[in-house]
Amino acid sequence: MSAAEPTLARGLHRRSFLRGAGLGTALGAGALTGAFAAAGAAADTDPSGRAIAFHGPHQAGITTPPQAAASFVSFSVLAPDRAALKQLFAVLTDRVRVLTAGGPVPATDLASPPTDSATLGPVIPADGLTVTVGVGASLFDHRYGLADRKPAKLTAMPAFPDDDLAGSTELHGDLSLQICADSRDTVMHALRDLTRHTRGLLQAAWKVDGFHAAPRPSGTPRNQLGFKDGIANPDTASQATADALVWTHGNANGEPAWVEGGSYQVIRIIRMLVEFWDRVSQHEQEQMIGRRRDSGAPLTGTKETDLPDYQGDQLGLIIPNTAHIRLANPRTPDSADSQILRRGYTYERGLDLAGNLDVGLIFCCYQQDVERQFAAVQQRLAGEPLVDYISPTGGGYFFALPGVSSPTDTFGAALLA
Ligand code: HEM
Repeated sequence: MSAAEPTLARGLHRRSFLRGAGLGTALGAGALTGAFAAAGAAADTDPSGRAIAFHGPHQAGITTPPQAAASFVSFSVLAPDRAALKQLFAVLTDRVRVLTAGGPVPATDLASPPTDSATLGPVIPADGLTVTVGVGASLFDHRYGLADRKPAKLTAMPAFPDDDLAGSTELHGDLSLQICADSRDTVMHALRDLTRHTRGLLQAAWKVDGFHAAPRPSGTPRNQLGFKDGIANPDTASQATADALVWTHGNANGEPAWVEGGSYQVIRIIRMLVEFWDRVSQHEQEQMIGRRRDSGAPLTGTKETDLPDYQGDQLGLIIPNTAHIRLANPRTPDSADSQILRRGYTYERGLDLAGNLDVGLIFCCYQQDVERQFAAVQQRLAGEPLVDYISPTGGGYFFALPGVSSPTDTFGAALLA
C-alpha cells in the first residue's frame, strides 16, 4: 500500500477524491500528490494583492502605510543557546521571505501533515503582508551572551502615571512580531506558519489583533472615540526626516554598530472607556482632543490637513493648552526632536465582566530614541483630560531589527555576528 493510502481512507472516499481533483482514477496515489498540487495551483492562480518588498536596509511595516489588519504578538524565546537563537532568526527570515512574496504551496506527501494550513488555498497571496520583528530587553539577559550588544535605550516598558498594568498578562516579551496585511486571514495564516516553523524555539505569550478602519467618509480613518486618528505624523517620505526621527544609527547616540537601520517600537494596549465617552458633550470631546470630530481639522483650522496654529492662540483659548494634540506635539523648537511615527490599530475584543465593551487602541509608534521621543511625549500627556476615558493595560518596548538586505542575509545577522 502506498504511504498516501491511509490518509485517503481516513478522511475521504478515494473515488470521490480523485474526481474532485479532476484527475480520473488511473493515477496511482504516489503520482497524486504532485499532480494534485499542480492542478490546484492551476485552478486558483490568483496571487491576489500586492507584494511589499521584504529586502532592504529597514524592515517593512514601519514606514509602510498601515494595512487593514494586524496582529501584535509577543513571544518568549525558548532557544537553548546562541546557536539555536541564530537558527531561530534564520527560520524566521526564510518564512517571512516566502510568505511576503506569496506563491504556490509546495506539494505535500499525503501521509504527512501538510506543509501549509491551506487557509488561504493552494496559492498564498502576497496580500500586502509585512512581518516586523522586534526584540525585547529580556533577550539581552544572561542566556545568549548578548548583554554588551543591547540597544542603548532598550529597557522593559516602565509604568507611566494612570497606567493600569497590575496583573496584566500582556506585557513585555523577548521577541515581538507585528504582522500586518490587507486581509485578516492573511495575518492569521502568517502567524500559524511562523509559529509552526519555530516550534520549540519560540512560545507565544500574548497577542492582540487590530484593524485599521476605512476612511469615513474620506481622509484619515477614525478611532473608536469617533475622531480621525493618525493625521499628524512625521513625513517619512523625506529621507532626512526618517533618518533623524525613525531609524537608529550604529555608533551614534551611544548605540552599538549593529543597530544601523533599526527602530525602537513601543506598543501600548489602551482601552477606551467608550460608554463614558459617549456621555460627554461633543464640545468637551473636541476640547480634549484639540480637533473637530466631524472633519478632523484642528480647532484653529477648517481641514484635517491644516496645521494647528499655536502661535496665534498662545493662551489656549481655541485649542486648550491641555488638549491631547497640543501636549503631544506643542510644535516648538524644543519639542521637534521628540516627534514619533504613530502606526496604531483599533482593537475590539468582546465584553468585560460588567458587560462593557473591551475596545481601544493598539498604540504603536516607532522612533530613533524611545526616551527622547515616546517617553517624553507620554510624560507631557500625563494628567491630560483624556486620561479619564482611556486605560493603558499592557504593551512593551521592543527594538525592530535592521532590515534583511539580500537573499543571503538574515534577521539579526549583525547582532549575532
Ligand atoms: C487611546 C489613547 C489615544 C487616543 C484616543 C488618541 C487620539 C488622538 C487623536 C484623535 C489625535 C489627533 C489626530 C492625529 O493627529 O492623529 C492624536 C494625535 C496624536 N497623539 Fe494620540 N491618542 C491616544 C494615545 C496617544 C499616546 C499614548 C501618545 C504618545 C505617547 C499619543 C501621541 C499623539 C501624537 C504625537 C499626536 C499628533 C499630535 C500632532 O502632531 O499634532 N497619543 N491622538
